[in-house]
Formats: sequence, C-alpha cells, structure tokens
Amino acid sequence: MRHVIYPGTFDPITNGHLDIIERATTLFDLVTIGVTTNPAKNPLFSVAERVTIIGDVTHHFSNVRVEGFSGLLVDYAQRLGACAIIRGLRAISDFEYEFQMALVNRKISDGIVTVFLMPHEKYTYLNSTIVKEVAMFGGDVSRFVPPTVEAQLKKKIAERQ
Ligand code: PNS
Repeated sequence: MRHVIYPGTFDPITNGHLDIIERATTLFDLVTIGVTTNPAKNPLFSVAERVTIIGDVTHHFSNVRVEGFSGLLVDYAQRLGACAIIRGLRAISDFEYEFQMALVNRKISDGIVTVFLMPHEKYTYLNSTIVKEVAMFGGDVSRFVPPTVEAQLKKKIAERQ
C-alpha cells in the first residue's frame, strides 16, 4: 500500500491545500495529513482545532485521514510506514525553503522521498498567513477557504477581540 504524509501547519487549511490533497489521493492509496506546530509561526488555532477542521473539510475523501504529530517529520513518517512526504510548491519563492527541508529530511532518513505537487495556478498567491490577515481585518475570505474554515476563523477572531 502506498501511504503518503502531507505535513504542515494548516493554520488554517486553505483551498490551495485542498487542491494538493485531492491530487495526492489519486496518486497514493492513503494520505495522512499530519498537523504540527512550526516553531517559526504563531498559530491562531490549536493543533486539535486544526485536526477537527481538516477532518470536517476532507471527510468526502475515502483515503484521507488526519492527525496531529510532534517531533521530527521523518520519525513520524517512519512510525506510520509512509513511503513519501508530499509538499505543495506554488512558486519559485517556495523553492529554497522546500528544497532545504527535503534535503535535510533525506539526510536524516535516507529512505524518505519528498514529492512536490503543484496546486492549480489560481492558488499560486494563496497561503494561510494571508487568509488570516484578510480575515483579521474583516475581509471576505470565502474564495480562499471552505465555509467551515471561514466560520471557524470568524469565531476565533471574535473570541480574541
Ligand atoms: O505548513 P508549514 O509550516 O510550511 O510546514 C512545515 C513543517 C511542519 C512541515 C515543518 O516545519 C516540519 O517538518 N516540522 C516538523 C519538525 C521537523 O521535522 N523539522 C525539520 C524539517 S527540515
């Protein structure tokens, strides 16, 4: 069975992430979305909240599961017996960081392969940080995220004010 991990912060999941997930489901038998905390980022949602939201917006995929993880990605991939890691590549600006991460992961654990998938070009500009910023200033994010995510964003931002 070809089992792949799609790791990330997903704070929150966007339509661009969902595009990648859909592509991954056609290439692999099982896709595990691994949600974790990136120390370089200050998350709006807890890992548990993000897992619940992602579960909600991916329940129509029969070969997708979602869970939180901590520690090194390569250790997590080994624990799950995954054959690869999926990362989305939107533009050249993503490349340097992604290239470094893929090479470090391969150095730490030789067996793990990183597969880069490109989302539809209409999502090239989209990331979670931009979505949060637009939402925090009261902008409309309905074109960028599913309705569940939009509702959770509004709720979380209202709680924080
Ligand atoms: O969505 P992000 O924030 O770009 O995802 C980055 C993530 C979570 C995949 C990366 O930070 C990661 O793999 N974290 C787990 C810890 C780890 O293994 N770090 C070394 C990667 S080079």
